[in-house]
Amino acid sequence: MQTTLKGRDLITTQDWSMAELEALFALAADLKTAKREGRPTPLLPAKTLYMIFFDASTRTRNSFETGMTQLGGHAIYLSPDRMQISHGENARDTAKVLSRYGDGIAIRHCAYQEGNTYLTEVARHADVPVLNMQCDVYHPCQILADFLTIRERFGNTRGLKLGVSWTCAPNYVRPLSVPQSLILLMPRFGIDVTLAYPPEFKLMPHIEEQARANAKAAGTTFEISHEFEDAFRDADAVVPKSWGPLVTTQDVEVGLRLIEKYPTWRCDQERMRLGKPHMIYMHPLPADRGREVADEVIDGPQSVVYDEAENRLHVQKALMALTM
Ligand code: CP
Repeated sequence: MQTTLKGRDLITTQDWSMAELEALFALAADLKTAKREGRPTPLLPAKTLYMIFFDASTRTRNSFETGMTQLGGHAIYLSPDRMQISHGENARDTAKVLSRYGDGIAIRHCAYQEGNTYLTEVARHADVPVLNMQCDVYHPCQILADFLTIRERFGNTRGLKLGVSWTCAPNYVRPLSVPQSLILLMPRFGIDVTLAYPPEFKLMPHIEEQARANAKAAGTTFEISHEFEDAFRDADAVVPKSWGPLVTTQDVEVGLRLIEKYPTWRCDQERMRLGKPHMIYMHPLPADRGREVADEVIDGPQSVVYDEAENRLHVQKALMALTM
């Protein structure tokens, strides 16, 4: 496949054109079929990906690492506390050295107002592609997998309604990157988006502004509501998902108290009935079962959470094969 993507970074889908994203989805679909049919896909023989995880992961680590194995390459898991980052080695030196050895650098760094800055700095100095495994602003790989899941389910996505809603999950303060990446990408593919959150849980203003601009350019709608049910009403797909009130406060204790202020923002069957009969329930996982979502919903027939998780593998293999 001829593309212009070799050597490219993926920090946010905003940096990729529609044609580039379509090339990625086409290859992801081919790789998914090949895996189902048991055909090997050695597109990256002897290539190495470095994966630096500042934060915990189940899906992201294992889908990237397994993906590299299936492409004939090798992925190395790196924890900053076991690297010289722990002694203050800067992004430039880390980027330059890893670029001399291998073929790609993937980073998860979700610390608010730090993660994206670090990724951008590594990308500025690296001579190999830098792939965002989630930062404080974006989670592009999750949202690429989510879009593939929606397209597989519905085919043509123009005119679909997606609800993205905050939910009450008081066990910890989650980053803003999933809802922010959803509202940026989905309108570009013709999907009308309704974003619902209590006032204290607003997203970064420049991201909401970009989402509005994306929707306008694509002839779709992007609306913000402070009513939970608005995300569900007449929707084709819904992503009820918690995030922290980080734009309002970065104090963890205050943040957790704010989350507990809205216990009724919880996805249950009653809310699911507000959507179209075929509406799908989506969540990137991990979910706070019993609080942000009822078991009967996440384990029910409308749930596609494991399809989303599986599609991480396929879109990331396409991403690595095209860029590396
Ligand atoms: N959805 C997601 O990124 O999962 P992990 O945090 O387990 O990687």
